[in-house]
Amino acid sequence: MTANDEKDITGLKAAGRVCAQAMQLMMESARPGMTTLELDQIGEEFLKKEGATSAPRAMYNFPGGTCISVSPVIAHGVPGDYIIKDGDLVNIDVSAELGGYFGDTGASMVVGKSKPEYDKLLATTKAALEKVLGLVQAGRPLNIIGKTVQQEAAKNGYNPIFDLTGHGIGRQLHDKPASIYNFHKPDDRRIMDNGLVLAIEPFLTTGQGHVVEKNDGWSLKTVDNTIAAQFEHTVIVTKGEPIILTLP
Ligand code: CO
Ligand code: CO
Repeated sequence: MTANDEKDITGLKAAGRVCAQAMQLMMESARPGMTTLELDQIGEEFLKKEGATSAPRAMYNFPGGTCISVSPVIAHGVPGDYIIKDGDLVNIDVSAELGGYFGDTGASMVVGKSKPEYDKLLATTKAALEKVLGLVQAGRPLNIIGKTVQQEAAKNGYNPIFDLTGHGIGRQLHDKPASIYNFHKPDDRRIMDNGLVLAIEPFLTTGQGHVVEKNDGWSLKTVDNTIAAQFEHTVIVTKGEPIILTLP
């Protein structure tokens, strides 16, 4: 959607904030020995308490309130009886509707003791998102996002995940523009307009950059079982810096 007035901006900020707060609570609560279902329930209960609705559950009948993906799964991980282990690389992605507006945010983290290989991938992916946010501006090409993500990945010996994209958002979870690529695509000539609401989500991996769906019909794991990380914010494009909506 395009956010045209204060009502839209206020509504989007409220939806974004509740997603960010749920994710922060889940990240703080995640510990070895807990199941991913227990972690999911913490997030979804928070959303309910705030009057928000889990977007994947409501829109897609996803069997969870949030997506919890344990590496090498990197997206749409289904919360269940998996017991989180010390040193697991976990991605938490929270999207929800509040007052008719949607927010979407995600982050990867290590539960318990990390290792340098994981820390470097996490730091690079987070920095790629930050670099992109510094470039997003009305009138610029949308694919500045993909170009930047791919450059940052390459500099560090990584690949973007070519199959996973960001998306427009607003009054729907997935809105126009569809498919905000995480790689340079010269024939993508779309321009970012003032007020456009985007969910920007770079995914980086140590592997070849493709995912396959697991037998559960949801979980997307790296095709080569390599590690991957994602960070995501929902933002409004402006003539200056973007407004980041998914801050706690
Ligand atoms: Co998301
Ligand atoms: Co998203």
